[in-house]
Amino acid sequence: MNTKSCKPKKEFMMSELQPKEKCKSARLSSPSWENMKLKQLEGLLGGLDQFPNPKVELEQYPTGPHLASRMIFTAENSFEDISNKVVADFGCGCGTLGVAAALLSADYVLSIDIDPESLEIASLNAEELEVDMDFIQSNVMDLRWRGQTVDTVIMNPPFGTRKKGADLDFLNVALKVASQAVYSLHKTSTRDHVKRTALRDFNASNAEVLCELRYDLPKLYKFHKKKEVDIAVDLWRFVPAKHQS
Ligand SMILES: C[S@@+](CC[C@H](N)C(=O)[O-])C[C@H]1O[C@@H](n2cnc3c(N)ncnc32)[C@H](O)[C@@H]1O
Repeated sequence: MNTKSCKPKKEFMMSELQPKEKCKSARLSSPSWENMKLKQLEGLLGGLDQFPNPKVELEQYPTGPHLASRMIFTAENSFEDISNKVVADFGCGCGTLGVAAALLSADYVLSIDIDPESLEIASLNAEELEVDMDFIQSNVMDLRWRGQTVDTVIMNPPFGTRKKGADLDFLNVALKVASQAVYSLHKTSTRDHVKRTALRDFNASNAEVLCELRYDLPKLYKFHKKKEVDIAVDLWRFVPAKHQS
């Protein structure tokens, strides 16, 4: 595991890349959140810098503030999986999900990405919002977790369009690492396969789609012909076998 201390670099510019996700489910909000309103969280996440030069081979597309805020808000508000928990953000990119967890009072947030440039931006984002997080530069598959306890893994993994099965590789590791829950986004077209694989092969005792979303990615890469790429995506909550709740 290669632990990296990320010095913020001021030259990273605010990215124009902001996916516009629309959540179809009403299950994702509740008026009883005491410490921070959902809209406030979304607003803070909307100010984060994102990938200036997204790397196609790493499937770098950011989780926009609308989806990210609802994902982490739901994890906390409906399941109490964030505040006072040890949270790991797999493939953290520019840090959006981990920052959201830190803002919702996670006890400790560890954000991991293979790409040092993204980690620099994530570190700057955390500093701008004055949240405490640690960053590790590593391939998620290479992590060794001896002695470390992680309650909750949050992630928007590569969907596997460049490296087949990348999303499930992430999920496999996440379900080995998390003691409490894994929150993840996967293409809706893979729903049956994801569920079957998680329950049968990856030690999940429960796999639930919390919300179906439309993930409208703006034109990120030169090979994208259309102005926007519209993908149907599921927000999942997985529970590792020994910790079902
Ligand atoms: C879809 S992006 C999500 C970024 C960020 N989590 C977000 O929600 O905005 C996937 C991220 O996974 C990272 N990544 C891809 N393969 C990886 C690997 N094997 N190990 C660690 N990170 C990886 C990419 O660099 C990228 O930042």
